[in-house]
Amino acid sequence: MIDVQHITKRYGDRTAIERVTFSVNKGEVLAFLGPNGAGKTTTMRILTCFMPATEGTATVDGFDCSEQPQEVKARIGYLPETPPVYQELTVSEYLTFVGRLKGMKSAALRERMPLVIEQVSLGDVRHRLIANLSRGYRQRVGLAQALLHDPPVLILDEPTVGLDPKQIIEILELIKSLAGSHTVILSTHILPEATAVCQRVVIINEGRIVAVDTPEHLSARLRRSEKISLTVKTPPHNFADRLRGIPGIVSVFAPADGGVYLVECALGRDLRDELARFIVTNGWGLLELKTISMTLEDVFLRLTQHEDGMGERSGGETPQEARA
Ligand SMILES: Nc1ncnc2c1ncn2[C@@H]1O[C@H](COP(=O)(O)OP(=O)(O)OP(=O)(O)O)[C@@H](O)[C@H]1O
Ligand SMILES: [Mg+2]
Repeated sequence: MIDVQHITKRYGDRTAIERVTFSVNKGEVLAFLGPNGAGKTTTMRILTCFMPATEGTATVDGFDCSEQPQEVKARIGYLPETPPVYQELTVSEYLTFVGRLKGMKSAALRERMPLVIEQVSLGDVRHRLIANLSRGYRQRVGLAQALLHDPPVLILDEPTVGLDPKQIIEILELIKSLAGSHTVILSTHILPEATAVCQRVVIINEGRIVAVDTPEHLSARLRRSEKISLTVKTPPHNFADRLRGIPGIVSVFAPADGGVYLVECALGRDLRDELARFIVTNGWGLLELKTISMTLEDVFLRLTQHEDGMGERSGGETPQEARA
């Protein structure tokens, strides 16, 4: 549905994004993750025909963003970083205005408006001036204008910024409910949001894509070892040393207070069964044993700090090609 091939954007001699390539399948929700200044907004602006790329091509539903902007815009609902709201209009006046701009017929507007107002919980403020709304409510108005003409593609630049926790959950639920029938790209700094609603994640750093994959695959690919946490009721004084004697155990972190032990096993070795038996047969009292998976935060930090091989730019592989 969305295909981006080697797009580069330069502002004067500053390169904002460089040879960015990714695609989004129909009905997929894709998260764009990256630190400040990574190039998320720049990529979204190119996709929404807000500005052309310096090099490369981007298409939406087969239409070229720089050559067929009308076709592309008709298929996209865009929530920019700063919602383009008019302070002097009420919410419903503004949405009517946007609907007309988008070329919606009166009947379609009459049908969609209450639905969208309901979707983003704007019912209580529909007759209030936008100037008098709080930041979170303005964000909802921005989201409403993106959804208004029921576009098949949604590009949402940090849709949950400024919202309260309850509203964040509601908006994420809304995005989830759009998945399947809509293709969505959203940018966020909040990693659990990406895991909660997205099938795939694009991690971008300093204008380059460093990874494209499912959240689960990303953490699995970056894992260097299997980690297990252990809580034991009455461990012997040399418990850590005895664990280190088990083949396959790489390291053991022993807590000073005798709390939770952290055991690192060689990659691909599942020693849970063996560890459990070892503790139980010795009568030390196994209270808890669980594997610790790498969070998306860990993955993100590792990739954006140039620490891991997967984040390197050498080798000429695109992240998709590099995918196992
Ligand atoms: N109009 C502009 N002129 C010059 N440089 C720009 C312009 N817009 C963006 N940039 C630069 O391009 C780079 C990418 O910016 P962009 O806004 O796309 O990042 P972002 O990932 O959206 O960041 P944030 O998380 O802060 O929103 C940054 O280095 C930024 O300074
Ligand atoms: Mg941005």
